[in-house]
Amino acid sequence: MQQFFAVIGDPIAHSMSPAMHNELFQLNELDAYYLPLRIKSEDLRVAVAGLRAIGIAGFNVTVPHKEAIMPLLDEIDPLAKAIGAVNTVVNQAGKLVGYNTDGTGYIAGLKEDLQDFNQKKMLIIGAGGAARGIYYALAEAGVEEIDICNRTLDKARKLAMECPYPVKSTLLTIQEAEQLLAQYDCIIQTTSIGMSPHIGEKPLSLKKLNQHAFVSDIIYNPHETAVLHEAKQRGVNVQNGLNMFVYQGALAFEKWTGILPDSERMKKNVLQQLG
Ligand code: ATR
Repeated sequence: MQQFFAVIGDPIAHSMSPAMHNELFQLNELDAYYLPLRIKSEDLRVAVAGLRAIGIAGFNVTVPHKEAIMPLLDEIDPLAKAIGAVNTVVNQAGKLVGYNTDGTGYIAGLKEDLQDFNQKKMLIIGAGGAARGIYYALAEAGVEEIDICNRTLDKARKLAMECPYPVKSTLLTIQEAEQLLAQYDCIIQTTSIGMSPHIGEKPLSLKKLNQHAFVSDIIYNPHETAVLHEAKQRGVNVQNGLNMFVYQGALAFEKWTGILPDSERMKKNVLQQLG
């Protein structure tokens, strides 16, 4: 019988996940189909009951449901519980189990371009949901020092304080981070500054960037944000958000099927969709 998968969110029309996963099902000759489902927040409970009733094999969860889905599931993986957000659900013999592959996907993508990531001194810019997923996954993976800078310091403090994995963190204002930038081996930009309607803007200046640093931005559209542009001009290696997007999908696909797909092929598919 054909297996059914979905991504639930609102809005959802522009999600690239259906094309990504449907291509993977075809390539792996699996009789499965993946649909985008627009679910309004007030309908989430009923929608999850409906997905259970039709025996959905698995689904992705995106904005605005990543936190609200949690009490509706039967089990939550410890990392997703710590992060406080679920982006992937697996139907394990009738039990809906929630995972978070955003941070682990980020790490898998980072490893492609940065060796020994867990020995690097890191700076995360931003303290929202994306920063949280990445910070907790990096801490769980053994990174010892991850500083955070954010416009609102209280949010950075809360993020660091609630992390259950041992990691050393200094919390910085944007201005402090600009001054101390030379200390960092790896800088991770997680704010929405750089994508529409903030194209061409930067959350901070890279004037004091270390020549050996690596700069990553989780935005992939546009493919080169102003931060990455400046980092490249300063001669350092950079990575945009395509790797994170592809690997969060690849790790979800692996949880559903046991198959870890070819990430290079997935990147081509996403780039084609972006046009
Ligand atoms: P996401 O889930 O994508 O991380 P989010 O939880 O809304 O989104 O977090 C957005 C991040 O971008 C936060 O770090 C936010 O800073 P604040 O915590 O101070 O709000 C940051 N951000 C968004 N707009 C910003 C702006 N105009 N200037 C500086 N930081 C901004």
